[in-house]
Amino acid sequence: MTIKLPLHSRITGTGSFLPPNRVSNAALAERLAADGIETSDEWIVERTGIRFRHFAADGVTCSDLGFEAAKRALAAADCDPQALDLIIVATSTPDMVFPSAACMVQQKLGVHGCAAFDLQAVCSGFVYALSVADAMIKVGTASKALIIGSEVFSRILDFKDRTTCVLFGDGAGAVVLEASETPGILASELHADGRYVDILCVPGTVAGGHVLGDPLLKMDGPAVFKLAVSVLDGVARSVLAKAGRSEADIDWLIPHQANIRIMQSTARKLKLAPHKLIATVDRHGNTSAASIPLALDDAVRAGTIRPGDTVMLEAVGGGFTWGAALLDL
Ligand code: UT7
Repeated sequence: MTIKLPLHSRITGTGSFLPPNRVSNAALAERLAADGIETSDEWIVERTGIRFRHFAADGVTCSDLGFEAAKRALAAADCDPQALDLIIVATSTPDMVFPSAACMVQQKLGVHGCAAFDLQAVCSGFVYALSVADAMIKVGTASKALIIGSEVFSRILDFKDRTTCVLFGDGAGAVVLEASETPGILASELHADGRYVDILCVPGTVAGGHVLGDPLLKMDGPAVFKLAVSVLDGVARSVLAKAGRSEADIDWLIPHQANIRIMQSTARKLKLAPHKLIATVDRHGNTSAASIPLALDDAVRAGTIRPGDTVMLEAVGGGFTWGAALLDL
């Protein structure tokens, strides 16, 4: 007997959710000024392109945001949650040390039994999760996967460190990925280099009933910036080669939304017209693993990205991790 494996996996629906509290640069600057910390709308916009970010209310968790995004993605895919056989949540800010936010999303969706786990690759998490789910579908381990990027980075920000706290926000994005006769995910590639653990990390942990070390985010911004620019172009080109496509085939580039200068630099290196760059960093800030699915859903719902378009996703993050995926929507 021969088992027929699906040749492809394809995104059939997207969804996202932002907590309602939208904080402008001016409002954040005012909050920091109360602690004697100086920043300004001008500095933040000029160096990063960020104008707003959303912060979750006290008590709202990663799985709460992920659940909202998931409901929207499932509705868009016309997919009954009972049919899911895989849930992956990409996050660095889960509700608890364990169990996973994915198990909590599963419970909130009212489905039981399917595989559910969190994936931790910081800002590259969504590209990692998409690539893992694609592989699981292609080997026949899953056929309908819910992939979520969800973060409450506001919980790990040091509001006394102006070099990091102005950059990040909270939110969630999700896609439904299904086994398909027609191509969807064309190629993907993942990388990590643990020599750079220290340049972007939350060095604390929980032990003996206490927090050990510092539980707030630390980043050497300029070092991350340099590494990001140097790896993103290479991984995007490698994925294009694997898929047998060229730069000219890319309709839309959705990079991890960290800094508009990094995003524009990668678009230029790929010789893409500026309008092909999908940017939500101005409205969302850096939402880590949520940034790419948030931007994807935003562009799909705006009618900018349409069925059949070819989209390049690329991300970098703590670890140091990076990766890219090329897909036909
Ligand atoms: O999501 C994971 C990936 N993360 C990233 O991709 C982040 C990558 N890095 C970056 O986006 C940029 O490096 C930053 C936005 C973090 C910083 O921009 P930069 O152009 O590299 O600035 P810088 O760190 O070299 O700082 C320039 C100046 C410094 O002052 P001096 O030393 O020149 O007097 C900083 O102290 O800007 C100062 N500064 C600020 N001033 C006002 C740093 N943060 C602020 C601030 N407001 N919030």
